Amino acid sequence: MSFLRIDAVSKSFGANTVVKKFDLSIRKGEFISLLGPSGCGKTTVLRMVAGFEMPSSGSIVIDGDDVTNRPANRRRIGMVFQAYALFPNMNVFNNVAFGLKITGAGKAQIRTRVEEMLSLIGLSHLADRYPYQMSGGQQQRVALARALAPQPRVLLLDEPLSALDAKIRTSLREEIRQIQQRLGITTIFVTHDQEEALSISDRVVVMNAGRADQIGTPYEIYNRPATRFVAGFVGTLSLVDGVAGSDHTVAVGDCPITLAEPSRCEPGTPVTLALRPEAVKLEQTAERINRLTCRVEDTSFLGSVVRLRLSSAGGTLLADTFNSPAAPPPVPGEKVDLYFSPADVIALAKEPGAKAVQAAH
Ligand SMILES: Nc1ncnc2c1ncn2[C@@H]1O[C@H](COP(=O)(O)OP(=O)(O)O)[C@@H](O)[C@H]1O
Ligand SMILES: [Mg+2]
Repeated sequence: MSFLRIDAVSKSFGANTVVKKFDLSIRKGEFISLLGPSGCGKTTVLRMVAGFEMPSSGSIVIDGDDVTNRPANRRRIGMVFQAYALFPNMNVFNNVAFGLKITGAGKAQIRTRVEEMLSLIGLSHLADRYPYQMSGGQQQRVALARALAPQPRVLLLDEPLSALDAKIRTSLREEIRQIQQRLGITTIFVTHDQEEALSISDRVVVMNAGRADQIGTPYEIYNRPATRFVAGFVGTLSLVDGVAGSDHTVAVGDCPITLAEPSRCEPGTPVTLALRPEAVKLEQTAERINRLTCRVEDTSFLGSVVRLRLSSAGGTLLADTFNSPAAPPPVPGEKVDLYFSPADVIALAKEPGAKAVQAAH
């Protein structure tokens, strides 16, 4: 049973349709990320759920309640923006109390709730501070407390971490996830950062030009991308050109590659194989029945991982190997064989935007 339903929602600004028949059903307490490149319509979807923007068509239902045409302040939704959205002339206490005052709560009730919220975000000791006296990370935690204080039905977060430095970004995203789980609040989180989306979401919606290309768990999105766009946008992927053979095989130069499922391509037609850098190995095992001969072009030492850039008959690909002091990585110019299992190959139909014809399991 879905708690929040976005049903065939479209949005046009003049002649420009930026959200196209967007469907999404969210369970109560679920954490959903909208992931996609800049301009794909993520913020517009969020603003329509919040009521800051009206859909050109379609409907939005929250807990059985059709809110499509209801103003923002009557939807019981909490929202956190990218940054710098606190009231600069109010201290932390008054920022968090703001939404409660609007609902007409009593003084004692407001104090209790604000204290509860500040304790939730670990900033009880900063109640008297003003936004300019706090770090970006602290300000975003206050923004979260402010959004949650009036007990909204849905929490909307629009790239709340993107203005922070890398370390704070990682710790705050984990904190957001913990708070969300503790409160069990239904949440939509917008980001263009795939690692962020994959690390904290129950499900991820990958958006491409106003549409949902794929909706799935982080595991499904990463391992079974439904389209070429998703495959390219989520994670690092090497694309290698091959030619379909019979049923389960694709030839890359002289190397026959076996797929987990039939390619469903006419023998002799072009097929693109997608391989994750962590799936291709220099060591052979019983499962890694595929062998692709390559030449090392370049190596980059990333610490625990050494990334190799290699050329094959089907094009360039990347391979990640673990650093080992006992076994130095191959050097540029060296010929090596890469090994991988049928399940690690994603076969993509040739045309851009086409559905994947076979995905890894
Ligand atoms: N109020 C508006 N008027 C006209 N065009 C807009 C408006 N808001 C957004 N757009 C356009 O809609 C598209 C999607 O924007 P947005 O939803 O902000 O994308 P994202 O959040 O994914 O970066 C962009 O091309 C943007 O320029
Ligand atoms: Mg945006």
